[in-house]
Amino acid sequence: MLNFSLIGAGRIGKMHAKIIKAHPKTNLKYVFDVNSKLANDVVKLIGCTKAKSIEQAINSKNVDAVLIASATPTHTKYITLAAKAGKAVFCEKPIDLNINNVNACQRDIQNFKVPIQIGFNRRFDLSHLKAQKARANKEIGELEMIVITSRDPKPPGIDYLKAAGGFFRDATIHDFDLTRFILGDDPVVQISAFGGALFDKNAKKIKDQDTAMFILKSKKGVLIHINNSRRAVYGYDQRVEVFGSKGMIISNNQVPNSVERFTSKSTNTKDTLHFFFIERYEQAYKDQFNEFVKCVIKKTTPKVTFEDGKNALIIANAAYKSLKSGKVINVKF
Ligand SMILES: NC(=O)c1ccc[n+]([C@@H]2O[C@H](COP(=O)([O-])OP(=O)(O)OC[C@H]3O[C@@H](n4cnc5c(N)ncnc54)[C@H](O)[C@@H]3O)[C@@H](O)[C@H]2O)c1
Repeated sequence: MLNFSLIGAGRIGKMHAKIIKAHPKTNLKYVFDVNSKLANDVVKLIGCTKAKSIEQAINSKNVDAVLIASATPTHTKYITLAAKAGKAVFCEKPIDLNINNVNACQRDIQNFKVPIQIGFNRRFDLSHLKAQKARANKEIGELEMIVITSRDPKPPGIDYLKAAGGFFRDATIHDFDLTRFILGDDPVVQISAFGGALFDKNAKKIKDQDTAMFILKSKKGVLIHINNSRRAVYGYDQRVEVFGSKGMIISNNQVPNSVERFTSKSTNTKDTLHFFFIERYEQAYKDQFNEFVKCVIKKTTPKVTFEDGKNALIIANAAYKSLKSGKVINVKF
């Protein structure tokens, strides 16, 4: 049995707590959150212990692994503490919003050889995975284009927006990682980004974006289009198209049920899509955790590494440079 400490008992932390509890080889020992009420909620839900301090949560001898799901600016500090304590680390994306902090963290932990996996859950979605495999085994021939559509159901509140660090580093970072995953060993070399606040007053107020489009190019010349919105009235819109010389794979939207309505007013209408990420990527969140547990037990390298987290942030930074300058930016890892 692997004993876990969970740091952060918010939206995604609570979901991870349930996954840890449900896994046959893991146990949630401690939860820690600066918001005591949220930590108590997880204690009630799971039956674990509320850690008195971050030190107790991370350093306790009976803890094997730490799952970091606290607010983004806390990640590097907790990764470093956990690595120094010799604990395996699963950390939510992004590692940090500032590349200098990511580099400093990488230097600080380089001598502590613990497994670290970053929470890019979309790599584990079975349909996206099939699209990636179709590229890897050349089922679609030579890869020529990737098209990713990723739109949230509704914009978050202003407090979330202020803490999130910008649309590209908070949301598009998933799509930058998915792009790198599908491309395999063919790196992104250029990006151009457009964005604006078209409908969300909060995004406008803090000079963030709610709508964005990106064109990227890989070293081999593959063209990638990503489009994002903070609002899709029909639900969480997640589609990936992988196009090549021998055809195309589409990882399409998934719906909670298969009902289709035929009435005097319309035919073939379906219910709205899954509400948001927790519902749409339920299987992916479980599979990414299974993978992490496997790596810790078998002492293998995680499939989504610290370096992957860093590289997605490098692309997001280049996207902001492009947005500000109106130019195509060369991406250097
Ligand atoms: N992979 C995904 O699909 C996904 C989805 C949502 C969020 N996330 C990431 O997960 C992280 C948390 O996001 P969320 O939506 O759950 O946010 P949230 O605001 O609901 O939860 C964050 C929690 O961190 C706690 N916290 C803040 N400072 C802390 C500290 N110093 N020590 C311990 N706890 C602290 C807060 O009290 C809060 O309970 C973010 O980094 C976010 O980017 C990833």
